[in-house]
Amino acid sequence: MAAKPDLLMIGSVTDRMMARLTADFTVHALSDQPDQAQFLADHGVAITAVLTNGHDGVRPDLMAALPNLKIVSSYGVGYDAIDANAAAKRGIIVTHTPNVLNAEVANTALLLWFAVSRRLVPNDAYVRAGRWENEGSTPLTHSVQGRTVGIVGLGRIGQAIADRLGVFESTVVYHSRSDKNVSYRYYADLAEMAADSDVLICITPGGAATKHLISEQVIDALGPDGILVNVSRGSVVDETAMIKALKEGRLGGAGLDVFEQEPKVPAELFTMDNVVLQPHVGSATHETRQAMGDLTCDNLSQWLKDGTTVTPVPECKGL
Ligand code: NAP
Ligand code: 8YV
Repeated sequence: MAAKPDLLMIGSVTDRMMARLTADFTVHALSDQPDQAQFLADHGVAITAVLTNGHDGVRPDLMAALPNLKIVSSYGVGYDAIDANAAAKRGIIVTHTPNVLNAEVANTALLLWFAVSRRLVPNDAYVRAGRWENEGSTPLTHSVQGRTVGIVGLGRIGQAIADRLGVFESTVVYHSRSDKNVSYRYYADLAEMAADSDVLICITPGGAATKHLISEQVIDALGPDGILVNVSRGSVVDETAMIKALKEGRLGGAGLDVFEQEPKVPAELFTMDNVVLQPHVGSATHETRQAMGDLTCDNLSQWLKDGTTVTPVPECKGL
């Protein structure tokens, strides 16, 4: 029987994924290596497949240390932490997990907006502290019904967010680099859209092209009654400008699933009761992670079978 190909695993996977991986590959977990440089020097040449995720990606020095790498299967849709163009030039196929997480991440975006708008977290703390009984009702909040919602990035997940907003009688508007010819109003100018929006939901890819897209100017345009929701990547929002605006009352509130230096979160946010913070869990349910894990493994299995993959990233289509 031929030896199983060697796969380098970056980050952790579910038991279900591990069972499939070990059936097909000799799996080396990078986190198990006490000396990663030595491991790569000893075994780098044998590795033909990498499994990673949206957080860890593949560092350029790591990719360079794997001369026979043929496939990178990423457990997540966003692949800004993998240089897909460099991989494609080397003939390495990069795959990801589009669509199977659209609903979950869209739900998370709305959950964050609603929690901020209706002060869910401070109100919960108020009840737990026994203050309702002693001090009476809390102040009125703002409705999520009938608002203008600006979606930054009307892609697969952005569209799933828009689909849900009908129920809330929202006016949906959007910004992206290209007009998608849909029924929602398109804004080529993001600041102009922010000025017209009650809520801005950010769901673009990360990376250099979107770094600090949500700038101080955009934040100021959203204004003191506006709410910023970020479920994309921390790099998309100028975090320093956002925190300053929140402190000075120039931004109404923020619902944040992602941060610039994950898992480090600026401590200034911890004391603000108009923000809701989540540890990058937009897709993190058993059901959705199972679907993502299955697709991550399907990409590897299909590649083993015939050299093709189910969901290559656009840069690697046709490889
Ligand atoms: P997608 O279908 O590729 O959609 C991305 C959208 O962003 C497109 O509408 C694109 O339109 C727009 N866009 C790209 N670059 C832009 C730029 N420079 N300026 C303005 N708009 C830009 O991707 P998706 O599947 O919806 O996923 C989007 C992202 O969500 C992922 O890449 C990932 O970073 C993030 N995500 C986060 C979580 C989480 O747990 N928080 C989970 C899943 C995904 P144009 O090309 O016309 O600009
Ligand atoms: C995951 C994500 O948290 O899909 C993405 O782009 O950010 C998330 O679904 C990440 O990929 C880790 O698995």
